[in-house]
Amino acid sequence: MPQEYEEFIRNIKMLTGIDLALYKEGQMKRRLTSLYEKRGYHSFREYYKDIQTNPGVLNEFLDRMTINVSEFYRNAKRWEVLERKILHGLLASKKKLKIWSAACSTGEEPYTIAMILSNLVPLNQIEILATDLDENVLARAKLGIYPE
Ligand SMILES: C[S@@+](CC[C@H](N)C(=O)[O-])C[C@H]1O[C@@H](n2cnc3c(N)ncnc32)[C@H](O)[C@@H]1O
Repeated sequence: MPQEYEEFIRNIKMLTGIDLALYKEGQMKRRLTSLYEKRGYHSFREYYKDIQTNPGVLNEFLDRMTINVSEFYRNAKRWEVLERKILHGLLASKKKLKIWSAACSTGEEPYTIAMILSNLVPLNQIEILATDLDENVLARAKLGIYPE
């Protein structure tokens, strides 16, 4: 029922600050429906009741709603643009660069930034903050161990 999903979106926004309306609706709805059905719930309303009261259910929901795909130099062309057109200009006008990888997943993005910048300036002139709403991927980012 579309109204039920809308109500779910409103509730999740109040509870977590996350606005599910900003994500592709069909895809998100399918992911969450298959998750709650697997756990034996019959509706978004029923599922939300447990999300509210059971931290394990909330964590699983957060884990499922995020798509954590990442890789070093993902979307290579954009990194080229960042390096050639943006970073050089910024470095010329700033003494210290502060960079925020706001949805860093398992860390490949902030480490890619560090690798690019390490060719341009001493790393003590930059500060990189990496955050993500998904605690599981953040733990892997902090570990910083990747397959060869
Ligand atoms: C597809 S990954 C992209 C990772 C990295 N930025 C890259 O391009 O390689 C998207 C990440 O965004 C995070 N995310 C999704 N919604 C978010 C939100 N509202 N606030 C913070 N992080 C969010 C997810 O947990 C996921 O790790």
